[in-house]
Amino acid sequence: MKTFISTPIYYVNDIPHIGHAYTTLIGDMLKKYHQLLGEEVFFLTGTDEHGQKIEQSALSKGKTPQEYADDISAKFKNLWDSFGIDYDCFIRTTDMKHCESVQKAFETMYQKGDIYKGEYEGRYCVSCESFFTDMQAVGGKCPDCGKDTIVLREESYFFALSKYQDRLLQWYAEQPDCILPAHKKTEVVRFVESGLRDLSITRTSFQWGIKLPKSLQDPKHVMYVWLDALLNYVSALGYGGEGEKMDFWQAPIHIVGKDILRFHAVYWPAFLMSLGLALPKHIYVHGWWTIDGVKMSKSLGNVIDPKEVACAYSVDILRYFLMREVPFGQDGDFSQKALVERINADLSNDLGNLVNRLIGMGEKYFDGKISLADTARFYSSELAMLDGILEKLPVWIEEMQLSRYIEELWRAFVIANGAISKYEPWNLMKQNKIQETQALLGLIATILAKASLYLYPIMPAAAKKIAHCLQIDLTPKTYHQLITQKALPQSFTLQKIEPLFPKVESYQMPQSHLSPTPPLHTAPKPQDQSPKPSDGGGLSDQALIGIDDFAKLDIRIGTIVTASKIEKSDKLLKLQIDLGEGRLRQIVSGIAKSYTPQELIGTQVCVLANLKSVKLMGEMSEGMVLASKDKKGLSLLCATAVKENGSKVS
Ligand code: ME8
Ligand code: MG
Repeated sequence: MKTFISTPIYYVNDIPHIGHAYTTLIGDMLKKYHQLLGEEVFFLTGTDEHGQKIEQSALSKGKTPQEYADDISAKFKNLWDSFGIDYDCFIRTTDMKHCESVQKAFETMYQKGDIYKGEYEGRYCVSCESFFTDMQAVGGKCPDCGKDTIVLREESYFFALSKYQDRLLQWYAEQPDCILPAHKKTEVVRFVESGLRDLSITRTSFQWGIKLPKSLQDPKHVMYVWLDALLNYVSALGYGGEGEKMDFWQAPIHIVGKDILRFHAVYWPAFLMSLGLALPKHIYVHGWWTIDGVKMSKSLGNVIDPKEVACAYSVDILRYFLMREVPFGQDGDFSQKALVERINADLSNDLGNLVNRLIGMGEKYFDGKISLADTARFYSSELAMLDGILEKLPVWIEEMQLSRYIEELWRAFVIANGAISKYEPWNLMKQNKIQETQALLGLIATILAKASLYLYPIMPAAAKKIAHCLQIDLTPKTYHQLITQKALPQSFTLQKIEPLFPKVESYQMPQSHLSPTPPLHTAPKPQDQSPKPSDGGGLSDQALIGIDDFAKLDIRIGTIVTASKIEKSDKLLKLQIDLGEGRLRQIVSGIAKSYTPQELIGTQVCVLANLKSVKLMGEMSEGMVLASKDKKGLSLLCATAVKENGSKVS
């Protein structure tokens, strides 16, 4: 089976930061996972180098766009190389082959009648490289990033996107998991249902882009950078040329951030339909890494250099933290404190100590050679529990519930640590129960062996060390034996290894690196509509309540369907929330300083549903959205997995 996996191609106006590393590390993780299953994988990443934004950035640095692109593209590539990212192609959109491929695609769409010439009139956000109507760009601002848009009126070729509206809706309906997490798909479906306009796909007011195919004889146009960029996914496989790798284009998997969902979930499948190519199997959409609640990006100057984190801790630890800390699809704040807590608790305590104890006892009692002859006899219930956990792991990956995957995998280590505490091998030895002791160490080694296969995509270096300790290899063959066939090896010969994750006693990076700028907003004062924070968490002086008091609160899960600012208030947002009641509720919430309306749409939140209605700034509010506040600002409460709207919180 052939599998295609891609990251976005990153713009060369930004230096690589934790956000880019997150997407790319997930891509590498997926590649390793699919390879373990025995699949042949093509993993693509690269840089997006054309467009008005890059032209402007280069100019401001006194460089030609090509020099500028060469410079930054190399920074991305070097970073991925230093992280051991196993990409099969690092594509650059200034590669000649890519440009020819895009021209070929344009020609094909044109011949099919999907491209026509007209005039574009409207607004354009150079930063997002995105078109908006005057209605969408309220006050001339980009609805996505909030920056000023420019007014455009120019001759342009259009792609007949509206023609594909019904086919897109049909695709979303027929392939339920084409966009994950599911609430992101809901967002896309609503957008498409609201009506698609044809898309302007060429520009004439600047030069830095791919020219139209010669056959069109229209040299003043260059291609719209998103048409150029999206086509990288097939140009890298030889589309429009030799097509040498196009057999990987069967059920492609794309990983993207939520900022570029519309381009991937609407425009891209429509282009693919026009070209007669297979549609994506999954578009996995993740949230944003933030600092003090603000999206990490170069323009805000609040970026964290992934290399610095990797040097201070390790690439493996960075991988673990990013994939474990925040449920895929949600935003997450990057903090060194949280990272160190993860190292000391999950990695050092749960896993590192376990390996040490196995090596220590294995050496002491059995000279490092452990037979499993009696393991199934003495510890069948632990083995059954282990298999029960492992069987479900592939589902969590397929659904891209990465933090859940890791959490479940860690339950295997809990079984192992629990078995040591329960059976106390040192006492078994004292009682001369040699067989039981040996079987117990066999159980621990088995758990580590099987778990190391599943750990490998997440933490390849650590998994390899564990495998070395157990003298196994992490190949599809071993996966097949130990996982698919659930076979137990006859014995393990242990190799001593260095402690995997020594406890971290002090921060390895200066704190200032994590928050290079002061927080960009001050925490809002509690509003009537926002929950009362408990100052510093001191609860002791508060009156206790009984469960019947709590039962008076009707707290429910709901999805934010629309969100907008309330004029004249810098704190309040007006939200329409679906609580599964067959109507939307309007709630006014004092969260505007911590969240933009755009990022809230599609988010599930907890709502106090039986609060008396009040009017705030002239707007009716029927309930309260729950949030927690500390000095960094507000953070909305939500469930760790998507719930049906209206589900009760108790
Ligand atoms: O959009 N948190 O490029 P881009 C999480 N060239 N992920 C982040 C992030 C953050 N704070 N910041 C960036 C483009 N990312 C286009 C893509 S694809 C055909 C063209 C990651 O440099 C995330 O994956 O702005 C996001 O979608 C991507 O970088 C945007 O990169
Ligand atoms: Mg961007």
